[in-house]
Amino acid sequence: MRQPLKARKVSDHVYWVGAIDWSIRDFHGYSTERGTTYNAYLIMADKITLVDTVKGPFRAELLARIASVIDPEAISYIVSNHAEMDHSGCLPEIVEAVKPEKVFASPLGVRNLSDHFDLGEQLTAVKDGESISLGNMRLSFFETRMLHWPDSMFSYLDSDAVLFTNDAFGMHLASSGRFDVEVGDWEYYAAKYYANILMPFSHLVLKLLDRVSSLGIPIRIVAPDHGPIWQREIDKILGLYAKWAQRKPTKKVVVTYDTMWESTALMARSIGEGIVAGGAEYKMMPLKVCHRSDVVTEVLDAGAIAVGSSTINNNMLPAVADILTYLKGLKPKNLVGAAFGSYGWSGESIGQVRDMLASMGIEVIGEGVKAKFVPKDDALAQCFDLGMRIAERLKEQAQ
Ligand code: FEO
Repeated sequence: MRQPLKARKVSDHVYWVGAIDWSIRDFHGYSTERGTTYNAYLIMADKITLVDTVKGPFRAELLARIASVIDPEAISYIVSNHAEMDHSGCLPEIVEAVKPEKVFASPLGVRNLSDHFDLGEQLTAVKDGESISLGNMRLSFFETRMLHWPDSMFSYLDSDAVLFTNDAFGMHLASSGRFDVEVGDWEYYAAKYYANILMPFSHLVLKLLDRVSSLGIPIRIVAPDHGPIWQREIDKILGLYAKWAQRKPTKKVVVTYDTMWESTALMARSIGEGIVAGGAEYKMMPLKVCHRSDVVTEVLDAGAIAVGSSTINNNMLPAVADILTYLKGLKPKNLVGAAFGSYGWSGESIGQVRDMLASMGIEVIGEGVKAKFVPKDDALAQCFDLGMRIAERLKEQAQ
């Protein structure tokens, strides 16, 4: 009986043999509203090579797509560019089924894989810049430490000029198309991936982009492990990475808050009006309806963030603690901040938000605005003024 799961040809000797996860909606705290893909690639060289595997539950899909090209037992080598479970989860079962001669990984990949699984003698370290022969073609390896794990590396197939980049240049976006030109509307998902996964490592992304160009190798295909394969829009995604990594200040402000009885929401609106009057723009992100991973995506190209919280039991609201904790881990650079919020009798949340922003190295404007119970005209005027001050600071930075 014909089975429907097929490989998709990527280049003369490379096939996509990954899996499509249409239903995942949470990726360790990052909302994946359009699902994702776990891309794996089969190189049809003399030594048939599988580059990366897929998340554990998708093992059968990977094997079926491989089997649409060759008997999986014909695979000689497996390359693991990254040990995280979405790419290695079924590796032990695939090694058991295929019995490859070798499983290649970076030196730290060997260590991390060994801390996950017992892969036996086949597990072999390859160094940065090392090449292996696949018989009639060569595969080279480049360590990309901390992009985004210590073990991460790229692989490059010279015959087809394909760069396998693992998580880099990927996105969580399930689609029927496999190539960039077949997948419209991808830019937000690429930005979201960068903001949530790669933002803390932006200084390394800039070094990586320099290294890729200094290698002087032809690149016809960039093959990441999530989302579309880059063919026509390689320059566009490389350019976006350079822009996101630099995080130059812009005149966009993210206003995000949670509110108990709409008082902090009223303050947020007045801050927004002040931002516009000051010549900047804002994106309103109420935390009751906006996921943390979308808020940080908006921060990616913002120059400032204003964070509001009512005070509850002497603390900021839990949703505000959540976004601030998440943002702190992503280490945003070149950001101006401000705090605001309503309170009933103590009002600690505003100072807590301000202190948390300052602890991230964010330049915090003023002491923040507090309003008792329901903000009156004077408190709303202070909020408007805070918005104006944020906009003015962004204009100064742009000069
Ligand atoms: Fe797609 Fe870091 O795993």
